[in-house]
Amino acid sequence: MTRRALIAGNWKMNMLRAEGEALAAALASGLKPGMAADLLVCPPATLLAPVSAVLAGSAVALGAQDCHMRDSGAHTGDIAAVMLKDLGAAYVIVGHSERRADHGEDDATVKAKAGAALAAGLTPIICVGETEAQRDSGEAEKIVGGQILGSVPDGASQSGIVIAYEPVWAIGTGRTPTVDDIAAMHAHMRHVAGRMLDGAGALRLLYGGSVKPGNAAEILALEDVDGALVGGASLKAEDFLAIAAAVA
Ligand code: 13P
Repeated sequence: MTRRALIAGNWKMNMLRAEGEALAAALASGLKPGMAADLLVCPPATLLAPVSAVLAGSAVALGAQDCHMRDSGAHTGDIAAVMLKDLGAAYVIVGHSERRADHGEDDATVKAKAGAALAAGLTPIICVGETEAQRDSGEAEKIVGGQILGSVPDGASQSGIVIAYEPVWAIGTGRTPTVDDIAAMHAHMRHVAGRMLDGAGALRLLYGGSVKPGNAAEILALEDVDGALVGGASLKAEDFLAIAAAVA
């Protein structure tokens, strides 16, 4: 089963309009034909419309960083998945550890958001990952497996979702697990997800947490790693394109 790699940039709460438009334009023009990876950018909600306009006609896909679990209603400040779809988004990140921590999102919330994304015709990128204390106590696989079981919506298909493994302690720290640890976790994730999805040969599993041009090749070469979810290094076109070019 060949899975096409996905290199996704999570801009988090960064970029004003001019910078975001310039970054999107640089990615659209820097994308080489025949590249082995799909490219995706997930700007903050304020930039979805202008970045969507810049990316129109390019092969760079657009995604959001979060969505609400309902389609409409009295939810001040929230954004529905159908609204993201309406702006040209194809993907939405759900359950990022920063949302789990900052907004108290649990697996049930993440599952409902992922379900709303699917219903709206978006591909949810469902994030999972252990804390440092959980890894140190030998619980990493149990935690991540439990998050997958709790966060993947009923009725999801292997090719309709993406799951991203982002160890909390590796995000923005410059630290990463060893390649052996990433390989073992991704194999475990494919096994767990495969029980829910009736196989997982077509499921894309991303690694995220301090992915840089310098470490991308060895991580992306791993059998069960089908791409990367990139934070800091996605804010520079040169670095993000270098990561994408590291896909063999
Ligand atoms: P960094 O690449 O900055 O470590 O962020 C990873 C991340 O959280 C992507 O969602």
